[in-house]
Amino acid sequence: MNFLKLAQTRYTTKTYSNQRIPEEKIQELREILRLCPSSINSQPWQFVFVSDEKLKNDAFAKVSFINEQRVREASHLVVFRVIASEELFEEKSKSFLSETGANFYRQTIKTKGEAFVRSWLAHQVYIALGYFLSACASIGIDSTPMEGILPEEYDKILQENDYRTLFAVAIGYRNPEDKNQPSFTPKKRLPLEEVVKNK
Ligand SMILES: Cc1cc2nc3c(=O)[nH]c(=O)nc-3n(C[C@H](O)[C@H](O)[C@H](O)COP(=O)(O)O)c2cc1C
Repeated sequence: MNFLKLAQTRYTTKTYSNQRIPEEKIQELREILRLCPSSINSQPWQFVFVSDEKLKNDAFAKVSFINEQRVREASHLVVFRVIASEELFEEKSKSFLSETGANFYRQTIKTKGEAFVRSWLAHQVYIALGYFLSACASIGIDSTPMEGILPEEYDKILQENDYRTLFAVAIGYRNPEDKNQPSFTPKKRLPLEEVVKNK
């Protein structure tokens, strides 16, 4: 399927069937996330795949706020996390940043202050979200991006303090009756001429 067709047909899944995603596809998605691009190749992220049904349902679903039911029904949950501090990023990235990248970071990111650095780090993780949603669609997997969770509660479950949770994505196969599918509910978007300009 070409990319435009994928963009027209992928959608935020609201209800799932109980079909499980095969392990080969999960491995494929792990590798796709590892290959995601980021500014200066900074990679300030961690992606946690929750495959254990009990952990997903008894721990994560309960702190998934408006998305509790989706997390329960979906096959897997993927937690997107950002490195917890500027200091940690600087320490960890020493081993892999290019000299040009490190100079760019020092001169144009760090000089703008801590709030800017934190926001810049989080932006990189959102790039991975877009990449991931498209990748899922390309291999026939349905998905739900979710900011409507309780990230601090996710962090308590994960107990890995070098990273903090920003959002999560539930993945699986749609319930054929899901009313949010574009065939039932057409996509709502701003008009092309309002959001894309020609000069
Ligand atoms: C960063 C982000 C966070 C979102 N959080 C939620 C969420 O918590 N729960 C939910 O059902 N949908 C969530 N959505 C889905 C959006 O509402 C959805 O992408 C938008 O309405 C466009 O619809 P579509 O994805 O079906 O094309 C989120 C989307 C993004 C990109």
